[in-house]
Amino acid sequence: MTLPRVEFRKIRTDGPVVYWYVEAYSPDDFVFPVGTGYVLEAGTAAHLSYILVADQWRRKGYGTAIFQACKSRWTNFISTGSMDSASELFMSAAGILKTSEE
Ligand SMILES: CC(C)(COP(=O)(O)OP(=O)(O)OC[C@H]1O[C@@H](n2cnc3c(N)ncnc32)[C@H](O)[C@@H]1OP(=O)(O)O)[C@@H](O)C(=O)NCCC(=O)NCCS
Repeated sequence: MTLPRVEFRKIRTDGPVVYWYVEAYSPDDFVFPVGTGYVLEAGTAAHLSYILVADQWRRKGYGTAIFQACKSRWTNFISTGSMDSASELFMSAAGILKTSEE
């Protein structure tokens, strides 16, 4: 299976914080990203604020591809925020660290 292409897009810098879109693209050359992670980077740490994969591309590994790319780029990569049971299962499968902060 061809892996999704993942690109890091810097959105803005606000003092010590850098905001990123982490975009996953279909190997079918669909022009828009089919999944996006929203990441805040501060120093050596990066926090996943949210991740969204479009309905018709779910359960095809795009969310995991975004996570793996983030974990490769930022060794101190964590997630905050509340999640439903399905996304909890996804986070657990991806092996992402989750803080207790909301
Ligand atoms: C959560 C979300 C990002 C997962 O994206 P995805 O591309 O479908 O995830 P993957 O295909 O990489 O899934 C990897 C594994 O996670 C688990 N998983 C993912 N979605 C799941 C679901 N709905 N129910 C149960 N397990 C799930 C499975 O173990 C899956 O492996 P499998 O398909 O081989 O069984 C996507 O469902 C989504 O955008 N949800 C709405 C937004 C959201 O809840 N975001 C998370 C808040 S941070």
